[in-house]
Amino acid sequence: MPKETAAFKAGPGSEIAKNQCLICHSAEYVLTQPRLPRAFWEANVAKMRDKYGALLPKDQVPVLVDYLVQTYGK
Ligand code: HEC
Repeated sequence: MPKETAAFKAGPGSEIAKNQCLICHSAEYVLTQPRLPRAFWEANVAKMRDKYGALLPKDQVPVLVDYLVQTYGK
């Protein structure tokens, strides 16, 4: 099992990820994804909000998607 040290890498937007994306699950969910394109991260964040009920404010969505694509996407 990976150690519980998984954390979001620091960078612009990482605070949003820390505050909004660790409420329901660990950062592993993001860190273990392959490097996926922007369309995936847009759809993923939309799903977290619309389907699972993440409370991420709408105006933070593009900042967070930029962070995810730059840090964990391609
Ligand atoms: C905006 C920050 C954020 C990001 C980025 C994020 N999550 Fe999730 N997330 C889930 C659930 C439920 C799953 C599916 C778990 C499963 O299938 O085992 C999931 C799964 C995932 C996955 C795995 C791929 C997939 O689509 O199943 C990723 C990546 C992910 N979340 C990213 C509930 C949440 C909740 C709870 C309200 C919040 C907040 C949340 N998620 C916030 C976030």
